[in-house]
Amino acid sequence: MIGRLNHVAIAVPDLDAAAALYRDTLGAAVSPPEPLPEHGVTTVFVELPNSKVELIHPLGEASPIAGFLERNPKGGIHHLCYEVRDIHAAVEAMKAHGMTVIGDGEPSIGAHGLPVVFLHPRDFCGTLIELEEVSA
Ligand code: CO
Repeated sequence: MIGRLNHVAIAVPDLDAAAALYRDTLGAAVSPPEPLPEHGVTTVFVELPNSKVELIHPLGEASPIAGFLERNPKGGIHHLCYEVRDIHAAVEAMKAHGMTVIGDGEPSIGAHGLPVVFLHPRDFCGTLIELEEVSA
């Protein structure tokens, strides 16, 4: 069912330092910081030949990643995002397997303007999973 690994999201306590690490130490192409207030994060996109890394930092009072960074003060892998062709079919398949879809099970519009759902880490080896619908 799943397709490409779309991105790995890494929560970081210092976005500039993390961007410099990927740009200057690893030699990656790194975007300027992009505030996404509706998602409560500021993101730096790291473009790799076969996928992306997204460095995410809390934005605003009620950021969904604030608690994660409190538990992981040096930062850490926050979620993996896999591509799917049909998000509603994916949700039904996950529910049929007894997986926990976070929220009401309805896809929301994610950081890339595409429909996404999140799957609870307890069902996926301790890793928060994002499924993102991409067109062919
Ligand atoms: Co993501």
